[in-house]
Amino acid sequence: MKTKVGIDRIHFYLPPKYVDMGLLAEARGVDPNKYLIGIGQEKMAVTDATIDIVSMGLNAAYPIIQEEDKDLIDQVIFATESAFDYSKAAATYLHESLGIHAFAKSYEIKEACYGATAALQIACDYVRLRPERKVLVVASDIARYGLATGGEPTQGAGAIAMLISKNPSVLALEEDSISLTDNQYDFWRPDYLDYPLVEGKFSTQLYNQCFIKIMEEAANKHLDLFDTLKGLCFHLPFSKMGKKALQAYQDYLNSKEGSLDPKVVLAFNRWLEVYPDLIQIGKQVGNIYTGSLYLGLISLLVNGTALNAGDKLGLFSYGSGAVAELLVGQLQVDYRKVLKLEDLNKRLAQRQELSIEEYEMIFSEKLPNDGKTHLLEPSVLPGDFYLTKIDGHRRYYQQYKTQTD
Ligand code: HMG
Repeated sequence: MKTKVGIDRIHFYLPPKYVDMGLLAEARGVDPNKYLIGIGQEKMAVTDATIDIVSMGLNAAYPIIQEEDKDLIDQVIFATESAFDYSKAAATYLHESLGIHAFAKSYEIKEACYGATAALQIACDYVRLRPERKVLVVASDIARYGLATGGEPTQGAGAIAMLISKNPSVLALEEDSISLTDNQYDFWRPDYLDYPLVEGKFSTQLYNQCFIKIMEEAANKHLDLFDTLKGLCFHLPFSKMGKKALQAYQDYLNSKEGSLDPKVVLAFNRWLEVYPDLIQIGKQVGNIYTGSLYLGLISLLVNGTALNAGDKLGLFSYGSGAVAELLVGQLQVDYRKVLKLEDLNKRLAQRQELSIEEYEMIFSEKLPNDGKTHLLEPSVLPGDFYLTKIDGHRRYYQQYKTQTD
């Protein structure tokens, strides 16, 4: 029997500040129901300058790395599209701060929101060949389109960390997957721009088209998936997106065949049933780009009361540009036990709401780039890592310790 490999531990870091989407809609002169119902977002995570992709990634990974893992992790793979450096990988900071052994390799992966899925596949293949070793995958992003732009209500920020090992506690991943590349301009960011360019409507259409093509391939080559997948997780730039993709696929099948294969109808009903569980956390956070699919997975694991160990889940990954992939995983016996629910609930409850003026001020703040020494004040919760100093264009991180620590 083949050794099972997959996600042994998974954790989410949520920044401590947010904006209420109803208030944002009012400030932009939009009917709040467009954001709350039409897009399906209630709160949007906001970061200030002391919270960057490295500090968020560290905060996601730190709680799931135990002392014995540090000598076993051979790779730290960091997926992001919000890098602050064109050369040095964000993974190198994590490698040092987490105390991973010196002979591990650390690097960054980019393909918009798809990056973390590529990292996960590399990690699983590495462990399949060396079952005693482990790989740390981190996805960390700050999604920004600019104030009062069409994309503004679909911003957000956060990080996901996943420890990949043999005999995983959460989700064993199958070797086979279905992937797709389609060279398009739906969302992209040339190096001279602060924010991405986005063809909003086209991006949602392309997402749907990629989903349909992948599902067609699944129907041709792996029809059993429609029998076996209990739930389908989506990349969720906003909480309505996955539902729109399912709807588009259903419309496509109806127009093509006149009537749907009962197998497909049953699968759709099952996937729609668990869909509300998938979006619970993301609705409170927004788009976290490459970690977003995995935030949906955590949300499903936390809220999905209809799920049981042994159930199979599909993971539909989409990154603009565009690359998509459908992975399949099987829930493991201890999957609920290893989720750090208390931490997640504490972070959701302890967040500070920003007024629209505060949000706009924070949004426009920039880190100094004069190469001088700048000490930064923490805005995170005690115990969290933050960017503490910039000196000679170098960034330094440490844990926020209060006097009682
Ligand atoms: P928009 O033009 O502001 O909104 O763009 P809209 O007019 O399409 O309305 C949105 C929905 O609200 C519609 O529902 C309206 O009917 C509804 P739908 O037809 O879609 O079902 N609506 C209302 N509902 C209730 N009450 C009301 C009301 N008014 C309207 N009063 C868009 C929205 C998402 C396109 C825009 O915000 C945007 O450009 N966002 C950024 C791009 C994006 O997220 N694209 C998603 C697919 S691409 C992707 O996922 C990759 C990405 O994550 C990047 C990466 O890979 O790195 C983005």
